[in-house]
Amino acid sequence: MCGIIGYIGDKNAAEVLTTGLKRLEYRGYDSAGIALLDGDLVVKKKKGKIADLVKTMNFSDYEHHTLGIGHTRWATHGEPSDVNSHPHTDCKGEIALVHNGIIENFSIIKRMLTERGHTIVSDTDTEVIVHLLEYYHEELPLVEALRRTLLKVEGTYGIAVISSKEPGKIVAARNGSPLILGVGDGEMVLASDASAVIEHTRQVIYIEDGELLEITSDGFQTYDLDNQIVDKKLEEIDWDIESIEKQGFDHFMLKEIFEQPETITNAFRGRVLTETGHARLDGLRLSDEEIQKIKRIIFIACGTSWHAGLIGEYLIEEYARIPVEVEYASEFRYRSPILDEGDLVVVISQSGETADTLAALREASSRGIKVLGITNVVGSTIARESDGGVYIHAGPEIGVASTKAFTSQITVIILLTMLLARRKYMTSEEGRIYMETLLAIPSQVNKILESSDLIKNIAEIYKNHRNFLYLGRGIQFPVALEGALKLKEISYIHAEGYPAAEMKHGPIALIDENMPVVFIATRDEVYQKVVSNMQEVKARNGKIIAIATEGDQEIENYADHVIYIPEVRKIVSPLLTVIPLQLLAYHIAVLRGCHVDQPRNLAKSVTVE
Ligand code: G6P
Repeated sequence: MCGIIGYIGDKNAAEVLTTGLKRLEYRGYDSAGIALLDGDLVVKKKKGKIADLVKTMNFSDYEHHTLGIGHTRWATHGEPSDVNSHPHTDCKGEIALVHNGIIENFSIIKRMLTERGHTIVSDTDTEVIVHLLEYYHEELPLVEALRRTLLKVEGTYGIAVISSKEPGKIVAARNGSPLILGVGDGEMVLASDASAVIEHTRQVIYIEDGELLEITSDGFQTYDLDNQIVDKKLEEIDWDIESIEKQGFDHFMLKEIFEQPETITNAFRGRVLTETGHARLDGLRLSDEEIQKIKRIIFIACGTSWHAGLIGEYLIEEYARIPVEVEYASEFRYRSPILDEGDLVVVISQSGETADTLAALREASSRGIKVLGITNVVGSTIARESDGGVYIHAGPEIGVASTKAFTSQITVIILLTMLLARRKYMTSEEGRIYMETLLAIPSQVNKILESSDLIKNIAEIYKNHRNFLYLGRGIQFPVALEGALKLKEISYIHAEGYPAAEMKHGPIALIDENMPVVFIATRDEVYQKVVSNMQEVKARNGKIIAIATEGDQEIENYADHVIYIPEVRKIVSPLLTVIPLQLLAYHIAVLRGCHVDQPRNLAKSVTVE
């Protein structure tokens, strides 16, 4: 949540900062601002999107400003407004600061600062940092003043700060909110993630928690909070700018849905040993002996990633016969979870930065439990702090509602299932068959994507309904949850996912002619049971949209609309059944005029609790 950026070089900083902020906008988009330094400090900030800020600016006015910081906000303390927008400044207008995170002891500091005569103008937790910094910076250089300030604040932060008393410099710090520095030729770009850096340079350093950074146009120095110099390693980003452009699609979400044949392939490429049915996941760093000792696997995640974990529970328990639990990271971290020898924790996170998931990882690690990470963003905090893991290689996901990352997570979880199952009970013949099924998935996804127009027609019929129910059984139950989540996230229609048979214990009371019910009714061992549940809905005049297996004519007797998917084995089926649900949510949201890529109140990377 919130994106921050800083630039020093020879370009128009206002242009670089606002372009970079657009790349970071998925992190928060209720207000934005920049501060530039060329002698005096210039601050421009505004409630609304980056585009609203840009409209108020004439970039040629800032040609000589080649240094600055910027922020795009997702409000935590204080409503979205001009005054609560970042950057925040000190009383004299000499220091400007942007912050991503939460300062927990801000009210105590605020009281102390007010008593000392500081004027605090916003309702944010952030503003106290800049006033505390003002106090120390009276006597001390900026970097030392920031270090002293940070020793007084409790909470999480990614911070960038500039001061007219020390021109030509940005000082930054991190604790719990991501920060990377792009190191260019005569220019430096500091940002919350690589998407804002990549068009300037591929060389980056990752800032760790507890580190401070002093940046000039031709160099940087990193310190810890004890003022000791920290050596950093330059790393290279291995993706390019095209992957974060829309490439002709109306929205990033649609582009990402259509990328799935390729991203699923990227998730299994080089990891499938078809002949033996084994999976190669070297990054797990698990020996055969360690695998044999696993007594329980605990998946921990939030949001869509949590749904991927639930699918993992169905898969691993059925095929590898290892007990699995799936925990919400936010619950796990505070309920003193029971962890034992023989437990393996697997955290799942697209961004690799979700605060609750990271805290859960640290809790498990501190108890001596091995933690693996399934992440997308290379070099993210979760990827770096896990004992081992697997990258899903989905490429940058910009749409706030996760789509391609979900199917890539499932692909990796299928591979993990195979790796475990082949060391337990699964024969090589079964393994070979399942792997071949997986390899066929990308072309089958392509086929489902051809139904996009049909799904749009269905969306047109139901776009104004106020409630939806999504039902599935077995491994399709988590897919139903994900379908409902997609719809509510981007179209603001209330939607519930339920195990189909549980419907009788409550949701059935809601069914009438105004209630569309989406059934995942593929041909598997629970197919007939699901058909019975459909009849129960039909008997109460509910409207049925069914996701069914190609060739299943019978289903047309019960469903008002049928979206067919190719017939596949259960182990890979969620990779197909979720695609029509993503498209349904997308088309409904577009038809309702919703902002699909940046739904209200949400943020892609939730780096606060
Ligand atoms: C936010 C996003 C979701 C995402 C969840 C977990 O809520 O809007 O799309 O599933 O965070 O994010 P993660 O990066 O940890 O997978």
